[in-house]
Amino acid sequence: MADKKIIAVVGATGAQGGGVVRAILNDPSGGFAARAITRDVKSGKARELAHLGAELVAADVDDEASIKKAFEGAYGAYCVTFFWAHFSPEKEMAEAQNMAKAAKAAGVQHVIWSTLEDTRQWVPLSDNRMPTLMGKYKVPHFDAKGESNKVFTDLDVPTTFLLTSFYWDNLINFGMGPKKGPDGTLAITLPMGDKKLPGIAAEDIGKCAYGIFKKGREFIGKTVGVAGGHLTGAQMAATLTQALGQEVRYNDVPPEVYRGFGFPGAEDLGNMFQFKRDFEQVFCGARNLDVARSLNPAMLTFEAWLAKYKGRIPLE
Ligand SMILES: NC(=O)c1ccc[n+]([C@@H]2O[C@H](COP(=O)([O-])OP(=O)(O)OC[C@H]3O[C@@H](n4cnc5c(N)ncnc54)[C@H](OP(=O)(O)O)[C@@H]3O)[C@@H](O)[C@H]2O)c1
Repeated sequence: MADKKIIAVVGATGAQGGGVVRAILNDPSGGFAARAITRDVKSGKARELAHLGAELVAADVDDEASIKKAFEGAYGAYCVTFFWAHFSPEKEMAEAQNMAKAAKAAGVQHVIWSTLEDTRQWVPLSDNRMPTLMGKYKVPHFDAKGESNKVFTDLDVPTTFLLTSFYWDNLINFGMGPKKGPDGTLAITLPMGDKKLPGIAAEDIGKCAYGIFKKGREFIGKTVGVAGGHLTGAQMAATLTQALGQEVRYNDVPPEVYRGFGFPGAEDLGNMFQFKRDFEQVFCGARNLDVARSLNPAMLTFEAWLAKYKGRIPLE
């Protein structure tokens, strides 16, 4: 343990961080040790990580001092924020700032910052193709992450900017799975037209991050995007049809319809999908499948993800 490089992982009991911790622990001779950061070291998920061999440290990203303490002695840190826990871009930016300052103060040598595009670089607030949300954002949960890149660069923290992709796990956890239409046929609803949506198994994000840490300084200062596949809605529906053994259609709706669905975050997600649709080449181009696979050779395709997890997709 003493001669291993410690990676402090924020969100360790969650999707991205959990993937990082497991990737480290699954490679005992890899030279890295996992420090799992959680607000509750006594939770079942935290205990499970400890059982697998992770060190548990209590900290909260809203409390800079606690994060600084949790980063002390670490070689690397995986930093992620939790937009859907509070729906506040300002809070997300404050969390990113706390982590950047903590990493600087603790002398962390390699931070991986889980970020996304600041969509306002492509769709300025004056562009009326999509509504401005919360006064100064187009896609709040993207823009806040993209805007936060600069807190890491301004503080000169050695950082890799990791662009993540749509989790296919959203079909299980985020209410985005196939639903029955009026005729009883299952359909997935996405406002993507005929454009490709980069997707990934959530667990693979952590495996890619581990691949980046293993490459030493190669990706410091760089932006790298990861995805397991770029699929149109029609391709996703066809793959689901095969895997589930029953027809799944692609229900393509306009983004304005999606924005009006009324669930919390519908406007944000409607704008997000529209951004991905309208800037398909930029968005897919930033998530090169070969580069991602070189970081994580075990990367699941959508087909492979379905073979592993289709039983968990709630079907009506
Ligand atoms: N869903 C998608 O398709 C998708 C795609 C790309 C990016 N994202 C982004 O992913 C981010 C969320 O990451 P995730 O999916 O890995 O999250 P997650 O699975 O919801 O896990 C979040 C974990 O973080 C911890 N946490 C929450 N608030 C915390 C705080 N204040 N301080 C310290 N730890 C805290 C919690 O652990 P404890 O309770 O143990 O502390 C929780 O287990 C979001 O910002 C989202 O925008 C999502």
